[in-house]
Amino acid sequence: MCGIVAYIGPKDATPFLLEGLARLEYRGYDSAGVAVTGRTGGIKVRKVKGRVADLAAAVPARFKGATGIGHTRWATHGVPSDANAHPHLDNAERIAVVHNGIIENADELRAKLAADGAVFRSETDTEVLGHLIAAHAAEGVELEEAVRAALGKVVGTYGIAVLDAEQPDRIVVARNGSPIVLGIGEKEMFVASDVSALVRYTRQVVHLEDGELATVRADGFRTFTEDARTTHRQPSTVDWEIDSYDTGGYEHFLLKEIHEQPGSVERTLGGRLDERFATAHLGGLNLDARELREIRRVKILGCGSAYYAGEMGAQLIEELARIPAHSEPASEFRYRNPVIEADTLYIAVSQSGETYDTLAAVQEVKRKGGRVLGVVNTVGSAIARECDGGIYLHAGPEISVASTKAFTSTVVAFALIALHFGRIHDLSPADGRRIVSALKALPDQIREVLAQSDAIAELAAEYAGSEGMMFIGRVRGYPVAREGAQKLKEISYVHAEAYPASELKHGPLALISPELPTVALVPDDELLDKNLTTLGEIKARSGRVLAVAHRRPETKLADHCILVPKSEPELDPLLLNIPLQLLAYHAAVALGRDVDKPRNLAKSVTVE
Ligand code: AGP
Repeated sequence: MCGIVAYIGPKDATPFLLEGLARLEYRGYDSAGVAVTGRTGGIKVRKVKGRVADLAAAVPARFKGATGIGHTRWATHGVPSDANAHPHLDNAERIAVVHNGIIENADELRAKLAADGAVFRSETDTEVLGHLIAAHAAEGVELEEAVRAALGKVVGTYGIAVLDAEQPDRIVVARNGSPIVLGIGEKEMFVASDVSALVRYTRQVVHLEDGELATVRADGFRTFTEDARTTHRQPSTVDWEIDSYDTGGYEHFLLKEIHEQPGSVERTLGGRLDERFATAHLGGLNLDARELREIRRVKILGCGSAYYAGEMGAQLIEELARIPAHSEPASEFRYRNPVIEADTLYIAVSQSGETYDTLAAVQEVKRKGGRVLGVVNTVGSAIARECDGGIYLHAGPEISVASTKAFTSTVVAFALIALHFGRIHDLSPADGRRIVSALKALPDQIREVLAQSDAIAELAAEYAGSEGMMFIGRVRGYPVAREGAQKLKEISYVHAEAYPASELKHGPLALISPELPTVALVPDDELLDKNLTTLGEIKARSGRVLAVAHRRPETKLADHCILVPKSEPELDPLLLNIPLQLLAYHAAVALGRDVDKPRNLAKSVTVE
């Protein structure tokens, strides 16, 4: 939610700000703005409703400065508009602020500041920060002191970058709940919400901690806490490839990320399979065999697709390790005063590692003394750091708002966890070997599905005009149906419902008509006959059926079929999901949607 960039150094800041914002646009894309300190004093600002490209077109050639900040927005307070776009200024136009997060006591602060003469020009919570910092920036006060004092009065979450026309030799940044990364260059410094904006300029980065601030100057930085204690931070090196941040010849990031899955699955598995003992090595879990044997339950927490991946994970853990496991939306869990049990292992799932609801759920578990592991893609992210241990996915950066490769890698990570737990419990060596071989075969099997992209595009074009779509699956297939429906509605805006196939006749069968086709997951497993019966019930009501199956059902049961290679039954859901990604992608393209940046959404949901 919202992307922040900043630059200070000998060069003109504007090109970096605009390029950095374009890289961060997936975090929010309803308005954008930049501010620089002019060479002749004062702050220059340009901000517009719309995309970063609209901003770039509105920035004149003379818009230059050696110190600058920028922002791309996902609206929380106030509609997308020029006025509500960041940066926001104080009355004297001395202080400029960009902000990611939510100021919870903004109304109260706004009333006090207005009573003292502040004139508000936007509906945003962020604008209070500009006025509040200005109110503390009296003669002779260093900018960092003014920011620190102002933040002492703020309740909420923030990642901010602050510019001061009177102290253009520095930018002050602060983090509380929303990420801030410093990029260290040669006599120049960069700031961004995440490394994707920085990797073209530097690989040396420092991730600020919650409650930490930094004064950033061209020749370095100083970090300190909200109570002014200096902190000592060592830079780390970013190892993600620059290519990952380009579409690499594909029409969209989403299509590229779907096609990257054979490689990303290989990386998730890399070095973790142990053929000798038919198990998985997961040192990062920080749990020895004895501790593992004491776990009686597993509770998985995540939001959206991460929650659905968790449902597949729960299924894998129950089947392979015979430990009761359940996935719950972190956004619900955190608000229901959950009972935290000592013998339950909690696992938080997040691609970004930033999702605020998931982070809050982790903090709730830890506050009550529970143990939480993370299944996270982004190294060093807030959720990864908050957890007691876990697994990194190594799926590489995922730019498109809709999750695909991270989803698949999450399920692979759960298969590794389930195998590891299973082999410590009662999974036999023979069953362990069966799963190890099936995991090794996945990348090639995914390639086989991806080779059907053109055929799936034809089906997508045929079904995209429907008034909605039903997705059904049984037991292992149900989370696949849920994720398939989520993907379709997220990027094509076609209404989609997911139901357990077994539940259809308990209500939703009433919806079935030629206008509402059904995508049915029909794996060749112990429930095949039951699934075929359900297809018969749909066809008997004139419903159209697109089956995703291992064997083509009879023509009278399915109008179309996408065939998927067979894995072991426990891992079949992974492969059944891939055609649904392609179906959603091609439906979105057929309908002319903004595939990588669907309306109303943002990649990292860092607000409640
Ligand atoms: C996935 O396609 C969605 N964009 C969304 O549901 C996402 O999975 C969810 O917001 C969680 O994100 P996270 O994995 O970064 O925590």
